[in-house]
Amino acid sequence: MKEYLITSLAETAELAEQLAEKIADKQVCILLKGDLGAGKTTFTKALGKALGVKKVINSPTFTILKSYKMKDQRMLYHIDAYRLEGITQDLGFEEVFDENAICVVEWPHFIQACLPKEFLSITITCLDDTKRKFQFECSDELNLA
Ligand SMILES: Nc1ncnc2c1ncn2[C@@H]1O[C@H](COP(=O)(O)OP(=O)(O)OP(=O)(O)O)[C@@H](O)[C@H]1O
Ligand SMILES: [Mg+2]
Repeated sequence: MKEYLITSLAETAELAEQLAEKIADKQVCILLKGDLGAGKTTFTKALGKALGVKKVINSPTFTILKSYKMKDQRMLYHIDAYRLEGITQDLGFEEVFDENAICVVEWPHFIQACLPKEFLSITITCLDDTKRKFQFECSDELNLA
């Protein structure tokens, strides 16, 4: 597990840029964990920007899944599963997880059953107004070192 202590929004963006470099040509599912307001969407915005998404990524409050084109023409999928708590029906997310794309999932434990086996988990903890702890953990076979 890798841990980063972040003290500002600018550092969050830098961390997202560093991750973007590592995953730019990969199929990856990023599970973004952390409380309300931890910074999951903020991190996703910076990641998208670094991956060449031209549209502004915003919080998909009423849309569960949003899709954006990256500069390499592959898709970046942003899922916010917050409103799916307790849902049991299959919503077909496997299709996007199987695609050669980058997926970012906020509140992944609400769709636990359909998450892929390979993932990068990022847990964000709010320490104060602008300080955050980011903990990165990869599934066994995904190597992002
Ligand atoms: N270092 C930082 N990194 C990320 N966000 C920060 C940081 N410092 C301050 N913030 C602020 O914290 C808030 C994070 O909100 P954001 O919508 O990204 O959270 P979230 O985890 O997506 O919440 P939700 O679970 O409601 O979707 C924003 O207002 C952002 O400006
Ligand atoms: Mg959010």
